[in-house]
Amino acid sequence: MTQNPSAIAPLREFIISMTKLVESTNEEPSLIKQTSIHLSKLISKDNWLPDFCTIPHPEFYQQYLLHADPLERFSVVSFVWGPGQKTPIHDHCTWGLIGMLRGAEKGQRFKYDEAGKLIADGPETTMNPGDIEVVSPSLGDIHVVSNAFSDKTSISIHVYGANIGAVKRHVYIEDSGEIKNFVSGYSSTQIPNLWDRSLEVRSQLN
Ligand code: FE2
Repeated sequence: MTQNPSAIAPLREFIISMTKLVESTNEEPSLIKQTSIHLSKLISKDNWLPDFCTIPHPEFYQQYLLHADPLERFSVVSFVWGPGQKTPIHDHCTWGLIGMLRGAEKGQRFKYDEAGKLIADGPETTMNPGDIEVVSPSLGDIHVVSNAFSDKTSISIHVYGANIGAVKRHVYIEDSGEIKNFVSGYSSTQIPNLWDRSLEVRSQLN
């Protein structure tokens, strides 16, 4: 996509809306409801994500940090799937919303049955551009996700109720029942520059 500094405006507006939201409430249902409205607007157009946040890795899915709230009340990432890439079964340990931007992804939720065995929770679902999914320890937090395409990149935008690169989470081994700790981190050391509004301000000069 374009590297014109004005192109980032939808992401900046989203970050501003999210910052106001986390200032106004810490109630999870409100946070999820309002974030869904803001995220839906953000992913309604696919013309703002900087190119360097769209690059797949030949082996591993990528998680590019787009923004982290300074008080770690939320974070936003672009999740970039190379062809056929898939996560392990994992959780998030915070609320999160997943908005499909480009391509498609498949998801399968899991839950524990009464005997303490990890089982599928509902059918496999497919997300297409504009679709949003919610995860949270209170609503169902364990799933496996994969690129729906074996021949092209897919990208989803995730919003989490914490700095997801610093959250202690878990990977679940279905056959053995083993649970392993992990922290996802981020794939890049740079983040988008939200703050160059010079073109807009220059256009207002006499
Ligand atoms: Fe996930």
